[in-house]
Amino acid sequence: MKLLITGACGFVGSSLIKAWSESGSRHQIIGLDNFIRPGSESNRETLKNLGVKLFHGDIRLASDFETLPEVDWVIDAAANPSVLAGIDGKTSSRQLIEHNLMGTLNLLEFCKIRQAGFVLPSTSRVYSIAPLAALPVKAQDLSFQLDESASLPIGASAKGIDESFSTAPPLSLYGASKFSSEVLALEYSQSFGFPVWIDRCGVMAGAGQFGHAEQGIFSYWIHSWREKRPLRYIGFGGKGFQVRDCLHPRDLAILLDKQMNSSTPGGQRIFNVSGGLPNSMSLAQLSDWCRNHFGQHEVAAEQHERPFDIPWLVLDSSLAQKTWNWKPSLAIEDILTEIADFAERNPHWSQTCQ
Ligand SMILES: NC(=O)c1ccc[n+]([C@@H]2O[C@H](COP(=O)([O-])OP(=O)(O)OC[C@H]3O[C@@H](n4cnc5c(N)ncnc54)[C@H](O)[C@@H]3O)[C@@H](O)[C@H]2O)c1
Repeated sequence: MKLLITGACGFVGSSLIKAWSESGSRHQIIGLDNFIRPGSESNRETLKNLGVKLFHGDIRLASDFETLPEVDWVIDAAANPSVLAGIDGKTSSRQLIEHNLMGTLNLLEFCKIRQAGFVLPSTSRVYSIAPLAALPVKAQDLSFQLDESASLPIGASAKGIDESFSTAPPLSLYGASKFSSEVLALEYSQSFGFPVWIDRCGVMAGAGQFGHAEQGIFSYWIHSWREKRPLRYIGFGGKGFQVRDCLHPRDLAILLDKQMNSSTPGGQRIFNVSGGLPNSMSLAQLSDWCRNHFGQHEVAAEQHERPFDIPWLVLDSSLAQKTWNWKPSLAIEDILTEIADFAERNPHWSQTCQ
């Protein structure tokens, strides 16, 4: 298949390309990136060596990809992936929407003209903040666990948050940009007859992820611990009991192959895609893991939560597993070990990504 991957030099884009190269897939890949993410540049040579035709371009500018060759599918992995984007004083809200929503619009117009399919790696952050923040949790084994004895909102169960959970705003500007992209993608698909798949991913994690807390907490924590950089447990009593699950992009690549090979029209287009409960861990448990691998390091405590902080966010991807006969193959231990090995080989990685 001929694929256009935007944000090809970012973590998800480059990891998908490496995964397909390792698995011997015969995809012909065109990559496009504006290299706005510090660290993305480091993937340029690797991707070229894997046979990717790489273009320096910006999805905010439709003319940057008007002259690109025909493709069968577009995978839109160019975005600002931080839940604090637009409100952190470092990035502008308008620019976040331009990258994450207007960029998607330009790509959907591209798909309409070329009759290419469209894959949107979306996010668990399309789910409503208030009911997520209010999920009943109990503290056990250095982590929050969902309190199943309490009443749970629709879409929440011991397996995690499923696709029926509320998407009513507020979601965060980031979540809203992705949710709006989902709606636009579905409308374009319906109106112009090209296929769309939307995969709501939880935390993605693996070697080579750029070290920012809001982008990929597992990688950030491991690199920071190893490099003895300051770390903080933020909010929820400052104990680090907040829980996330993780998925390696290699597992996403397997699912995308199944989706891009499917020509089923209509039906379910939106899926949660994540590692789920078996691949979940609290920050305090992650600290234990790091201590065992790299030795002692202090973590400071900060009592106050930030906007959009959630104590327990685990996605239930049962629907994707059943529909696609797919399940995550990489266990959290494998993913953490891969990141730690990469950290050993790249001892100043955090600085590369500043
Ligand atoms: N990282 C995660 O844990 C995670 C979780 C869920 C969903 N996602 C989604 O996956 C996608 C990729 O995330 P990531 O973690 O690889 O982020 P990343 O920052 O590592 O990669 C994004 C890439 O896109 C490029 N880019 C940004 N704006 C661009 C633009 N306007 N034009 C062209 N290139 C541009 C950047 O230079 C970077 O190389 C995003 O859509 C994000 O919402 C990521």
